[in-house]
Amino acid sequence: MSREYWETRYQTGDMRWEKGAPSPGLVDFLAAHPELPRGSVCIPGCGTGHDVREFARAGFDASGFDIAPSATRLSEEKTRAAGLKAKFQLADFLHDEPPQKFDWLFEHTLFCAIQPQERDDYVRAVLKWLKPDGQYLAVNYLIPDEDGPPFGTTRDELWRRFSAEFNLVEEVVPRSYPNRTGLELLLWWRRKAR
Ligand SMILES: C[S@@+](CC[C@H](N)C(=O)[O-])C[C@H]1O[C@@H](n2cnc3c(N)ncnc32)[C@H](O)[C@@H]1O
Repeated sequence: MSREYWETRYQTGDMRWEKGAPSPGLVDFLAAHPELPRGSVCIPGCGTGHDVREFARAGFDASGFDIAPSATRLSEEKTRAAGLKAKFQLADFLHDEPPQKFDWLFEHTLFCAIQPQERDDYVRAVLKWLKPDGQYLAVNYLIPDEDGPPFGTTRDELWRRFSAEFNLVEEVVPRSYPNRTGLELLLWWRRKAR
């Protein structure tokens, strides 16, 4: 989907994904893992920045990226209002060069927002934006929908796409927003040493 498509959705307020709060699965993950080193984290397709602020609150050096100018503007406004520090940048995650390589990359409803035929590009981008020893944390949306966005996926597809380059550290059905209960799968992957 183009930048214009997403920007129009913000401009017209057609933002059904917007829950006004970070991913419950991410909130629980960060609370359960206070021991993790607080490195840099990239959140592509960050929307209005709830997940970016959750990482910032937990002490990470958090950067949000989005293809829609309204998303990064709203993210900056909300982050300032919350008194938090995080960076936001306009970027096409699939095709732009990363401004730096990150220790972590957090996925939450970007994989299901792009066209399914762009998923090879998505996996290449994750590898490009992550450090060689980086970690990929994903709250995946396991729905059957073929006419998205959101476009569905399965655990089998995720395993097929990521297991060649990543070792699975943890897999859990996370706490979800009420209308996504039982439809999400949290996968924590660590990049394989090469
Ligand atoms: C379904 S929304 C999810 C937003 C946020 N992750 C959330 O869960 O609230 C998808 C977001 O990805 C952004 N997006 C779509 N394609 C993108 C791309 N190629 N690069 C960066 N952002 C993209 C859209 O503008 C939109 O903000």
